[in-house]
Parts: sequence; C-alpha cells; structure tokens
Amino acid sequence: MFPPDPGEAMTAAEDAEDLVAAAEAHCAPTYRPLPVVVATAEGAWLTDVEGRRYLDLLAGYSALNFGHGNRRLVEAAKAQLERVTLTSRAFLHDRFAAFCTELAELCGMEMVLPMNTGAEAVESAVKTARKWGYRVKRVPAEMAKIVVAAGNFHGRTTTVISFSTDPEARADFGPYTPGFQIVPYGDLTAMREALTENTVAVLLEPIQGENGVIVPPAGYLPAVRELTRERNVLFVADEIQSGLGRTGRTFACEHEGVVPDMYVLGKALGGGILPVSAVVSSAAVLGVFRPGEHGSTFGGNPLACAVALEVIAMLRTGEIQARAAELGERMHRALAQLPATGAVTAVRGRGLWAGVDLAPRVGTAREVSEQLMDRGVLVKDTHGATLRLAPPLVISEADLDWGLEQLAAVLGAEPR
Ligand SMILES: Cc1ncc(COP(=O)(O)O)c(C=O)c1O
Repeated sequence: MFPPDPGEAMTAAEDAEDLVAAAEAHCAPTYRPLPVVVATAEGAWLTDVEGRRYLDLLAGYSALNFGHGNRRLVEAAKAQLERVTLTSRAFLHDRFAAFCTELAELCGMEMVLPMNTGAEAVESAVKTARKWGYRVKRVPAEMAKIVVAAGNFHGRTTTVISFSTDPEARADFGPYTPGFQIVPYGDLTAMREALTENTVAVLLEPIQGENGVIVPPAGYLPAVRELTRERNVLFVADEIQSGLGRTGRTFACEHEGVVPDMYVLGKALGGGILPVSAVVSSAAVLGVFRPGEHGSTFGGNPLACAVALEVIAMLRTGEIQARAAELGERMHRALAQLPATGAVTAVRGRGLWAGVDLAPRVGTAREVSEQLMDRGVLVKDTHGATLRLAPPLVISEADLDWGLEQLAAVLGAEPR
C-alpha cells in the first residue's frame, strides 16, 4: 500500500465529485470537509482518488504526529492484528500491563485509565475528579465543581459541551450537565476567585488548540499549579492535542515547568491508526475507583496497547520532540514574516503548531484553505478567520518550506 501508487488510485477511483456528493447525501452534516477525497497517504503526503498529491499541514488535529503510515506503528499494528485484538477488560492480555506501566512512566505518574476517544478521556477525568472530591477531599454530595476556561475545546459529548463557550457546540443540545464554572483563559485573578471549598479540579488545555492555538500568558500555568496545590484542587491538563511531542516537549506543560495532577491524553497516542486515549495520574487519585464504576469495552484493547506502546517507545528517545522544536522554530521564523504583508494580523503557537489570524482582506480562513488546497496544501480553518497549522512532526524541512511558501503566495494575493 505504501508508497502510494497514483496509477492504482486512479483505476480504483470513482469520480471524486460523486464521492463528495454521496458523503453529503448519506452522512449527518456535522462537518464541512474540504472537497478532497483521500485514497492513500505516506508521511506528510496524501494522495486523492484522482492521483493528486497534497501536503498535510493538519495531521489529523495532531493525531498523526508520527505521520501517515509510520512503518514502526504499522508493523506493530500488523503484528498485533495476527495475535489478539480484543479481550474486553473482562480478561487481561499480555500488552496491557506494559501499556499502563510505560505510559504512567512517560508521564511521571503511577496509574492509567485507558479509554478510546479524547472526549471519553475528558469525561473520565471529570468522573475521576468528582469521585476524588467526594471520597478524598470530602466535598458534600452533589456539590463538586470543576473550573474550566472560556474558549475551551474538550470534545463533543453532552457533559463536555455543557462547559463549552462555543454557541455552535452547545445550541440545541441542552439541558446541560451542571457542576462547571467558566473563567477567562489566562486570567489568574478570575481563577483564584472561582475556587471554593467545593472545587475538585481545574481543567485546562495548556495551549487552546481548537480556539486558534492560544498560548496563555507566561507564568499563568505555574501560578494555577501553585494555587490548585494550595487549595487542594486537582490540576487536570488536557494534553490531547498539545501533548506527545507537538510543542517540542512531550507535554506542553513542561515549557512552564508544570506537572499537573492528571494528564488527559488521546490523538497521537493511537499513532493515527486507531483511537487510544487515557487519563494518567497518581494512585491516590485514580485509585479511588472500584470495579464496576467506570469502563469501556474497547479501552486498553490489545491492538490499541500494541500501537500505543510503540508510540511511547518513540517518545521516550526525545527525538520527535527535538524535531518538533527545531522545525517549529523554522516554521515560526517563516510565519513571523507574514504580519508585515498586512495579510495576517497575528501568529501564535509553540513547537510545530501555529494559529494564524488572517486579515479580512485576504478572505475567510475557509477561502484561504480552499486556495491552499488548489495548490496542494491542506490546512484547517477555525473560528472564521484563523488557520491552524499542525504538520506531522516527521515532515521534511523542504516540504515544510514548500508548504509555507504556498501559504505566503496565497496570502500575498492582491487585496480584493
Ligand atoms: C484538547 C482536546 N480535548 C479533547 C478533544 C476531543 O477528542 P476526540 O475528538 O478524540 O473526542 C480534542 C479534539 O480536538 C482536543 O483538541
């Protein structure tokens, strides 16, 4: 299957337009994808059903940190496919202990609660914090509060959207789950005032990805860490998008020397092959659960563990983090030129991750994404005027430079 063979893709291809139309007709319209129909992929490159190639500067929202079809990960998956793929948690399997032990070790923690998707892991973190609050902190029954930040994105389930501030994510999906308090992101005073004796956790993205790669003010995360420690509140870091190498460190929290009480992980943990997520924390926190209180048929399955173990092994060397840091500097040097053109109003980010706010004169972020698609580069717009760049961390320097040149060319277009 790899490397992609455009000839083979062409013969197998139905007309791309028909495939777009069929997807629109038969899939609930919860997304508005770019009209590209991918057939194969390798590294940082995608090939569509008609043999056109595209540079992937989104990487599955960071799920593909190790690139498409990563050989080590594919081989680990293939080998496990031939052995055993699912036991459910009713029985143990021979990859399970290693997965929990090695993931806990990578995080500097003690215990792992394995799940599948990111939103499920966030839900699991919420349940963990509440249970810890009632059983350890001794918060009165039904009174537990979790403080979250405005502009957050933690997933799409009913409880998770209950504490979203995005009207699109919330409208018409109530009634909402109570027990959350929202404070402005980066505002320490608001955070301090929000904490009460019933607060069990603060749940934050160390960098808000979906919101446009928003980096909080320097010192904010350490101050929240100190405050939560003082007030006996759990600091829960949702590193589903920011973690596992993206920012040039294993965790984005590390840039500020912060160790949270709980990591919530997903996306790249499954190597872009299958959904693998987890809550990782101390035994004092995750040890609050008793059999029957939480679970998942697929969480911690052998195939997931085999792939995740390979992901963990690759992260352990620190090579991918170093690469993200190096390429990230290169990318941010190039992006820093853009505001002078007047086409861009702001660039943010850390490591190989950036949010680029577009000036109205260049069109919407969706329009710019479509122009980039026509040039063979795929990115994702967010919130109307922001482009999010998150290339696979394995991208070559030459490909990254070429992709950024295409962006500069599109943005250099004459004012409309
Ligand atoms: C920070 C963060 N948390 C949670 C999620 C939800 O993950 P999933 O889509 O796997 O449910 C995402 C997805 O983008 C995310 O970025």
